[in-house]
Amino acid sequence: MKEKLQQIKQAAFAELQTPDCDTEAVRVKYLGKKGELTAVLRGMGALTPEERPVVGQMANDVRAEIEAALTTVVAAAKEKALNDRLVREKLDVTMPGKCERVGHQHPLTRAQREMEEIFIGMGFEIAEGPEVEYDYYNFQALNIPENHPARDTQDTFYITDKILLRSQTSPVQVRVMEKQSPPIRVISPGRVYRSDALDATHSPLFHQMEGLVVDKGITMSDLKGTLETFARKMFGDKTEIRFRPHHFPFTEPSAEVDVSCFVCGGKGCRVCKGEGWIEILGAGMVHPFVLQNCGIDPEVYSGFAFGMGLERVTMTRYGIDDIRLFYENDERFLKQF
Ligand code: DAH
Repeated sequence: MKEKLQQIKQAAFAELQTPDCDTEAVRVKYLGKKGELTAVLRGMGALTPEERPVVGQMANDVRAEIEAALTTVVAAAKEKALNDRLVREKLDVTMPGKCERVGHQHPLTRAQREMEEIFIGMGFEIAEGPEVEYDYYNFQALNIPENHPARDTQDTFYITDKILLRSQTSPVQVRVMEKQSPPIRVISPGRVYRSDALDATHSPLFHQMEGLVVDKGITMSDLKGTLETFARKMFGDKTEIRFRPHHFPFTEPSAEVDVSCFVCGGKGCRVCKGEGWIEILGAGMVHPFVLQNCGIDPEVYSGFAFGMGLERVTMTRYGIDDIRLFYENDERFLKQF
């Protein structure tokens, strides 16, 4: 029996020496309830009373030795695992960090949002229309029949004879009036297209914001008050506006509207090219033919409309002298806003 105990001890030690030894399996195999050492202890009944305490003591010693060896191996394995992990997950705190770069809105988007806020504050709603538009909405319904000279100044990209890329946001006026009955108070910002060559002041793609108000008793003074409020919120409290007679086929009377130069206050400077005034939009009273085309009775209702170039307003506001800067994605420009 003593020999058997020695064999158990040696076998257990040998197993614990093997690399990657499964220590739990060793514990169960030798020290567990059904383990080899337990089996020996069970057989102790067959021993003589003298032998019993000797073998018992020996069995206890063997158990203690195996347990001690197990503890050592388990501790060593744990330490090795920890060391491996520390090596694997080594952190170099001196390495430069990864910096998240946060972008911001494009200057045109910013200007558009700002303008929208101003008009929303005056009770306007935002209306949208398609960029691929029918000739009917872009021209005919706006009192610009085929061969009308106004088409020359708004030459655009045609998809078919009847479908084109809209050259202005004014067609949205027609779409809104067809669907809604007065009172109407909408603005409509969006992209427009013209077959112009790209230079410092022209781009084949640019942005406009249209405005339309239709109700009973709307007059030119409503137009003036609305635009003055807009101009003062956008360009500063002291801004004055000026109407110059003009012609648009879809308004009568029509005007071009200037704001007093917010840099020099009207004295004349580089920004206003010595004029003291800067042109920002076209406007007028909605032509009775246009109202009629949209099913609104011009004997009952009247309205005003205006349209401005977003690029132009933004360039004026920030003193930008080249429209191409908006589309070139040059960070040196964009970062300034
Ligand atoms: N659509 C015109 C243009 O692109 C601008 C304009 C003028 C719009 C007068 C209007 C308006 O609504 O009443 O040149």
